[in-house]
Amino acid sequence: MASSTSGCIIIALLVLFLITPAPVAAGHHERVLKHSSGKKPLQTERPYNIAHRGANGELPEETHAAYERAVVEGTDFLETDIISTKDGKLICFHDLTLDATTDIANHTEFKDRVRTYEVQGANVTGFFTVDFTLAEILTLGAVQRWPFRDQSYNGKYKVIIFEEYIEIALNTTDRIVGIYPEIKNPVFINQHVKWPGGKTHENIFVETLQKYGYGGKYLSEAWKQKPLFIQSFAPTALAKAATLIDSPLIFLIDDFSVPTQDTNLTFYQITTNQYFDYLVSFGVVGIGPWKDNIAIPNAENYAAPPTHLIRRAHDHGLQVHPYTFRNENQFLHFNYHQDPYQEYIYWLADLKVDGLFTDFCGSLKLYQDWAMPLKTQ
Ligand SMILES: *[C@@H]1O[C@H](CO)[C@@H](O)[C@H](O)[C@H]1NC(C)=O
Ligand SMILES: *[C@@H]1O[C@H](CO)[C@@H](O)[C@H](O)[C@H]1NC(C)=O
Ligand SMILES: *[C@@H]1O[C@H](CO)[C@@H](O)[C@H](O)[C@H]1NC(C)=O
Ligand SMILES: *[C@@H]1O[C@H](CO)[C@@H](O)[C@H](O)[C@H]1NC(C)=O
Repeated sequence: MASSTSGCIIIALLVLFLITPAPVAAGHHERVLKHSSGKKPLQTERPYNIAHRGANGELPEETHAAYERAVVEGTDFLETDIISTKDGKLICFHDLTLDATTDIANHTEFKDRVRTYEVQGANVTGFFTVDFTLAEILTLGAVQRWPFRDQSYNGKYKVIIFEEYIEIALNTTDRIVGIYPEIKNPVFINQHVKWPGGKTHENIFVETLQKYGYGGKYLSEAWKQKPLFIQSFAPTALAKAATLIDSPLIFLIDDFSVPTQDTNLTFYQITTNQYFDYLVSFGVVGIGPWKDNIAIPNAENYAAPPTHLIRRAHDHGLQVHPYTFRNENQFLHFNYHQDPYQEYIYWLADLKVDGLFTDFCGSLKLYQDWAMPLKTQ
């Protein structure tokens, strides 16, 4: 990403030169460079701060409030998971079931809606979004997933649709904020939801992005105006998306032992150099690995030295955006002395990854502003 910086500055200066009658101030680093939108550009000189499900360490995940908070806290990208309702509406929601992050348990009018379906080889029981219309889902309140996080916002916010999430990013006034939506569980969604004309989850997902003018290769001018990474754990969904839009794609990597939903292979089997070559060939620009695949924790909760995954990905020109960074002791390995900054130092300064998915984008922003301040903003 360092090499992109000078190009970004040159283009931004050119834009200033073309639109500004007054001469550009000498010493080009001290002034704020603005895109033609009038907003400060996305920073591209240090690893990306990716607000995993919004600022969900503080507010119920994937709600409008969680995304607004992430914008205020200075994240580079708003991250989300896109699945479907029964009536084919795309919503921002992580789980296939409503049980863990809504108050559906208290909505007795839906008590006969519990179902058991096979999901990636396991039977799962619960209230599935694919058995509810959007109007029904909008009667629910979002709740905090983890008992040790702030419960005081439970029931105050609703589930949001994909379009509202996009508008939150586009409606920022002072700076450009990117989006990082996931084509989530496409195999399951396509089994349970049918769209007119034989369209699939992938089609509707990409059409929604195109409706808002998204598109363009990584670091192109179009991309910088509306920065977007499309992510998925399903390589077939990324390959399908690549036939519909030229946006950069990120291949997510689950626990290595987990079978993928759409190939007959485990994640371990599709992280070979040969598979990386294949991914690069159709527009994948990075991987989003579970961090415990790279620095594997032992039974005493100490993370081991890293595997060769980061080096191999970088050798293929692939960025590495590991997930998920969380401030709480419940998630921090003992190597980091219960200090999330120590964990950032290890991953950003030592392992040199290119972005982090974090539940606490505000903490990561403060760390980055302290340890790696931006030259251009
Ligand atoms: C359900 O209702 C009970 C009793 O009013 C309340 O204590 C609980 O927090 C509610 N659960 C959810 C998930 O909203
Ligand atoms: C799921 O449940 C069905 C019905 O009980 C059973 O036939 C099937 O084998 C189960 N699948 C798995 C993966 O356990
Ligand atoms: C974004 O701004 C447009 C135009 O002002 C407005 O219609 C829309 O409701 C806003 N969306 C969100 C999610 O705030
Ligand atoms: C997975 O294996 C099954 C059984 O051998 C086969 O029918 C199916 O086509 C395979 N799927 C893929 C995506 O290769």
